[in-house]
Amino acid sequence: MKRRDIVVANWKMSPETLIEAKKVFNSVRGLAKGIRNTDIIICPPFPFLYPLLKLNHPKNVFFGVQNIASEIKGAFTGEVSADMAKGIGTKFSIIGHSERRAMGESNEIIRKKLQVAFDTDLIPILCVGEKERDKDGNHLAFIKNQIKECLTGLHKKYLVGIIVAYEPIWAIGKSYKEAMTPTDIHETTLFIKKVIGELFGGDIAVGSKILYGGSVEAENAGSIVEYGNIDGFLVGHASLSAEQFSAILKAADLKR
Ligand code: 13P
Repeated sequence: MKRRDIVVANWKMSPETLIEAKKVFNSVRGLAKGIRNTDIIICPPFPFLYPLLKLNHPKNVFFGVQNIASEIKGAFTGEVSADMAKGIGTKFSIIGHSERRAMGESNEIIRKKLQVAFDTDLIPILCVGEKERDKDGNHLAFIKNQIKECLTGLHKKYLVGIIVAYEPIWAIGKSYKEAMTPTDIHETTLFIKKVIGELFGGDIAVGSKILYGGSVEAENAGSIVEYGNIDGFLVGHASLSAEQFSAILKAADLKR
Protein backbone atom coordinates (compact mmCIF):
# COMPACT_ATOMS: atom_id res chain seq x y z
CA MET A 1 0.00 0.00 0.00
CA LYS A 2 1.20 3.48 -0.80
CA ARG A 3 2.37 5.38 2.23
CA ARG A 4 0.19 8.36 2.94
CA ASP A 5 1.27 11.59 4.53
CA ILE A 6 -0.88 13.11 7.22
CA VAL A 7 -1.75 16.68 8.05
CA VAL A 8 -3.20 17.20 11.51
CA ALA A 9 -5.18 20.33 12.32
CA ASN A 10 -4.86 21.15 16.01
CA TRP A 11 -7.49 23.81 16.59
CA LYS A 12 -6.45 24.10 20.26
CA MET A 13 -9.06 26.22 22.13
CA SER A 14 -10.46 27.79 18.94
CA PRO A 15 -12.67 28.87 17.28
CA GLU A 16 -14.99 30.54 19.78
CA THR A 17 -18.35 29.22 18.60
CA LEU A 18 -19.86 26.11 17.06
CA ILE A 19 -21.05 28.21 14.12
CA GLU A 20 -17.49 29.25 13.37
CA ALA A 21 -16.26 25.68 13.87
CA LYS A 22 -18.77 24.49 11.28
CA LYS A 23 -17.56 27.18 8.87
CA VAL A 24 -13.95 26.12 9.24
CA PHE A 25 -14.92 22.47 8.86
CA ASN A 26 -16.96 23.23 5.76
CA SER A 27 -13.95 24.76 4.10
CA VAL A 28 -11.84 21.71 5.05
CA ARG A 29 -14.45 19.43 3.47
CA GLY A 30 -14.25 21.43 0.27
CA LEU A 31 -10.43 21.41 0.24
CA ALA A 32 -10.17 17.72 0.99
CA LYS A 33 -11.84 16.78 -2.26
CA GLY A 34 -8.82 17.97 -4.22
CA ILE A 35 -6.33 16.17 -1.97
CA ARG A 36 -5.34 12.70 -3.18
CA ASN A 37 -2.43 11.25 -1.19
CA THR A 38 -2.81 12.85 2.19
CA ASP A 39 -5.03 12.11 5.17
CA ILE A 40 -6.43 15.09 7.04
CA ILE A 41 -7.09 14.82 10.75
CA ILE A 42 -9.18 17.51 12.39
CA CYS A 43 -8.77 17.93 16.15
CA PRO A 44 -11.41 20.38 17.37
CA PRO A 45 -12.19 21.27 21.00
CA PHE A 46 -14.34 18.58 22.65
CA PRO A 47 -17.72 20.40 22.51
CA PHE A 48 -17.46 20.76 18.73
CA LEU A 49 -16.32 17.23 18.02
CA TYR A 50 -19.64 15.41 17.91
CA PRO A 51 -21.60 18.01 15.89
CA LEU A 52 -18.80 18.05 13.31
CA LEU A 53 -18.49 14.27 13.24
CA LYS A 54 -22.16 14.04 12.35
CA LEU A 55 -21.62 16.03 9.16
CA ASN A 56 -20.70 14.23 5.98
CA HIS A 57 -17.06 14.31 5.11
CA PRO A 58 -14.78 12.89 2.43
CA LYS A 59 -12.94 9.61 3.08
CA ASN A 60 -9.59 11.31 3.64
CA VAL A 61 -10.90 13.41 6.54
CA PHE A 62 -10.68 11.96 10.06
CA PHE A 63 -11.20 13.26 13.55
CA GLY A 64 -8.88 13.37 16.51
CA VAL A 65 -9.02 14.62 20.07
CA GLN A 66 -6.39 16.92 21.51
CA ASN A 67 -6.03 14.91 24.70
CA ILE A 68 -7.42 11.89 26.56
CA ALA A 69 -7.54 10.90 30.21
CA SER A 70 -4.71 8.71 31.51
CA GLU A 71 -7.23 6.40 33.16
CA ILE A 72 -9.67 4.13 31.35
CA LYS A 73 -12.65 5.11 33.53
CA GLY A 74 -13.60 6.35 36.95
CA ALA A 75 -14.24 9.50 38.96
CA PHE A 76 -12.00 12.05 37.24
CA THR A 77 -13.75 15.40 37.11
CA GLY A 78 -13.23 17.27 33.87
CA GLU A 79 -11.57 14.42 32.03
CA VAL A 80 -12.70 12.74 28.81
CA SER A 81 -11.92 9.07 28.34
CA ALA A 82 -10.42 7.51 25.24
CA ASP A 83 -13.44 5.20 25.07
CA MET A 84 -15.81 8.17 24.89
CA ALA A 85 -13.81 9.71 22.07
CA LYS A 86 -13.61 6.41 20.23
CA GLY A 87 -17.30 5.70 20.83
CA ILE A 88 -18.46 8.72 18.86
CA GLY A 89 -16.19 7.96 15.90
CA THR A 90 -12.87 9.60 16.69
CA LYS A 91 -9.85 7.81 15.24
CA PHE A 92 -6.81 9.69 16.56
CA SER A 93 -5.57 11.43 19.68
CA ILE A 94 -2.83 13.99 20.08
CA ILE A 95 -0.90 12.97 23.19
CA GLY A 96 1.70 14.92 25.14
CA HIS A 97 1.35 18.25 23.38
CA SER A 98 3.82 20.77 24.81
CA GLU A 99 0.94 22.96 25.95
CA ARG A 100 -0.31 20.06 28.07
CA ARG A 101 3.19 19.21 29.24
CA ALA A 102 3.39 22.84 30.41
CA MET A 103 0.32 22.13 32.57
CA GLY A 104 2.20 19.35 34.30
CA GLU A 105 1.96 16.31 32.05
CA SER A 106 5.06 14.19 32.55
CA ASN A 107 6.56 11.58 30.26
CA GLU A 108 5.18 8.98 32.67
CA ILE A 109 1.62 10.27 32.34
CA ILE A 110 2.06 10.46 28.58
CA ARG A 111 3.16 6.83 28.46
CA LYS A 112 0.01 5.88 30.40
CA LYS A 113 -2.09 7.84 27.93
CA LEU A 114 -0.38 6.10 25.02
CA GLN A 115 -1.19 2.72 26.57
CA VAL A 116 -4.81 3.77 27.07
CA ALA A 117 -4.99 4.93 23.45
CA PHE A 118 -3.62 1.60 22.18
CA ASP A 119 -5.99 -0.34 24.43
CA THR A 120 -8.89 1.67 23.04
CA ASP A 121 -7.77 1.44 19.45
CA LEU A 122 -7.27 5.17 19.11
CA ILE A 123 -4.21 6.08 17.07
CA PRO A 124 -1.93 8.32 19.14
CA ILE A 125 0.12 11.21 17.79
CA LEU A 126 2.94 11.57 20.28
CA CYS A 127 4.33 15.10 20.57
CA VAL A 128 7.95 15.76 21.46
CA GLY A 129 10.15 18.83 21.21
CA GLU A 130 12.65 20.95 23.05
CA LYS A 131 12.09 24.31 24.75
CA GLU A 132 15.23 25.75 23.23
CA ARG A 133 18.13 24.74 21.03
CA ASP A 134 21.71 24.97 22.14
CA LYS A 135 25.03 24.71 20.39
CA ASP A 136 26.13 21.73 22.47
CA GLY A 137 23.25 19.63 21.19
CA ASN A 138 21.63 19.17 24.62
CA HIS A 139 18.25 19.56 22.97
CA LEU A 140 18.90 16.29 21.15
CA ALA A 141 19.45 14.47 24.43
CA PHE A 142 16.23 16.07 25.69
CA ILE A 143 14.23 14.80 22.69
CA LYS A 144 15.81 11.36 22.99
CA ASN A 145 14.81 11.17 26.63
CA GLN A 146 11.23 12.17 25.83
CA ILE A 147 10.99 9.39 23.23
CA LYS A 148 12.59 6.86 25.54
CA GLU A 149 10.46 7.66 28.58
CA CYS A 150 7.20 7.92 26.64
CA LEU A 151 7.57 4.74 24.60
CA THR A 152 9.68 2.31 26.62
CA GLY A 153 7.62 -0.46 28.15
CA LEU A 154 4.87 -0.35 25.55
CA HIS A 155 4.45 -3.59 23.64
CA LYS A 156 6.41 -3.52 20.39
CA LYS A 157 3.33 -4.44 18.36
CA TYR A 158 1.86 -1.04 19.26
CA LEU A 159 4.89 0.81 18.00
CA VAL A 160 4.43 -0.37 14.44
CA GLY A 161 3.53 2.75 12.44
CA ILE A 162 3.95 5.03 15.46
CA ILE A 163 3.31 8.71 14.68
CA VAL A 164 5.63 11.21 16.36
CA ALA A 165 5.05 14.93 15.95
CA TYR A 166 8.20 16.94 16.42
CA GLU A 167 7.25 20.38 17.69
CA PRO A 168 10.09 22.57 18.95
CA ILE A 169 8.38 24.72 21.57
CA TRP A 170 10.33 27.83 20.63
CA ALA A 171 8.84 27.69 17.11
CA ILE A 172 5.18 27.28 18.12
CA GLY A 173 2.59 30.02 17.62
CA LYS A 174 4.79 32.39 15.64
CA SER A 175 5.09 33.10 11.92
CA TYR A 176 6.81 31.12 9.19
CA LYS A 177 9.75 33.49 9.52
CA GLU A 178 10.46 32.13 12.98
CA ALA A 179 9.76 28.47 12.24
CA MET A 180 12.57 25.96 12.12
CA THR A 181 14.46 25.82 8.84
CA PRO A 182 13.82 22.82 6.56
CA THR A 183 17.47 21.74 6.93
CA ASP A 184 17.27 21.74 10.73
CA ILE A 185 13.94 19.89 10.54
CA HIS A 186 15.59 17.30 8.28
CA GLU A 187 18.43 16.80 10.75
CA THR A 188 16.08 16.43 13.68
CA THR A 189 13.65 14.06 12.00
CA LEU A 190 16.62 11.87 11.01
CA PHE A 191 17.77 11.98 14.61
CA ILE A 192 14.31 10.98 15.87
CA LYS A 193 14.20 8.01 13.48
CA LYS A 194 17.69 7.00 14.59
CA VAL A 195 16.64 7.11 18.23
CA ILE A 196 13.52 5.07 17.52
CA GLY A 197 15.70 2.56 15.65
CA GLU A 198 18.21 2.29 18.50
CA LEU A 199 15.53 1.86 21.12
CA PHE A 200 12.96 -0.29 19.37
CA GLY A 201 14.55 -1.67 16.20
CA GLY A 202 15.08 -0.61 12.60
CA ASP A 203 11.72 -1.99 11.49
CA ILE A 204 9.89 0.28 13.93
CA ALA A 205 11.95 3.28 12.80
CA VAL A 206 11.27 2.62 9.12
CA GLY A 207 7.54 2.27 9.72
CA SER A 208 7.27 5.36 11.92
CA LYS A 209 5.88 8.66 10.71
CA ILE A 210 7.47 11.90 11.79
CA LEU A 211 5.43 15.07 11.51
CA TYR A 212 6.67 18.62 11.98
CA GLY A 213 4.74 21.29 13.85
CA GLY A 214 5.63 24.86 14.81
CA SER A 215 4.53 27.84 12.72
CA VAL A 216 3.82 25.90 9.56
CA GLU A 217 2.16 28.38 7.22
CA ALA A 218 1.42 28.68 3.51
CA GLU A 219 4.82 30.30 3.00
CA ASN A 220 7.07 27.58 4.44
CA ALA A 221 5.04 24.39 3.96
CA GLY A 222 6.39 23.68 0.47
CA SER A 223 10.06 23.97 1.39
CA ILE A 224 9.61 21.86 4.52
CA VAL A 225 7.92 19.16 2.45
CA GLU A 226 10.74 19.31 -0.06
CA TYR A 227 13.73 19.42 2.27
CA GLY A 228 12.46 18.56 5.75
CA ASN A 229 12.28 14.75 5.53
CA ILE A 230 8.81 14.68 7.06
CA ASP A 231 5.70 12.51 6.73
CA GLY A 232 3.31 15.37 7.32
CA PHE A 233 2.47 18.32 9.53
CA LEU A 234 0.85 19.16 12.84
CA VAL A 235 -0.63 22.57 12.20
CA GLY A 236 -1.90 25.03 14.80
CA HIS A 237 -3.10 28.54 13.95
CA ALA A 238 -2.85 28.16 10.17
CA SER A 239 -5.32 25.25 10.28
CA LEU A 240 -8.11 27.71 11.12
CA SER A 241 -7.58 29.77 7.98
CA ALA A 242 -9.03 28.26 4.81
CA GLU A 243 -6.45 29.98 2.63
CA GLN A 244 -3.47 28.96 4.73
CA PHE A 245 -4.65 25.41 5.34
CA SER A 246 -5.40 24.92 1.67
CA ALA A 247 -1.84 25.87 0.73
CA ILE A 248 -0.40 23.56 3.40
CA LEU A 249 -2.53 20.62 2.27
CA LYS A 250 -1.58 21.16 -1.35
CA ALA A 251 2.10 21.34 -0.45
CA ALA A 252 1.91 18.08 1.50
CA ASP A 253 -0.07 16.39 -1.23
CA LEU A 254 2.40 17.31 -3.95
CA LYS A 255 5.16 15.24 -2.37
CA ARG A 256 4.22 11.92 -3.94
P1 13P B 1 1.30 26.69 15.44
O1 13P B 1 1.14 26.08 14.07
O2 13P B 1 0.27 27.70 15.77
O3 13P B 1 2.70 27.16 15.65
O4 13P B 1 1.06 25.51 16.49
C1 13P B 1 1.78 24.36 16.39
C2 13P B 1 1.19 23.41 17.33
O5 13P B 1 1.38 23.50 18.52
C3 13P B 1 0.32 22.35 16.76
O6 13P B 1 0.09 21.35 17.68
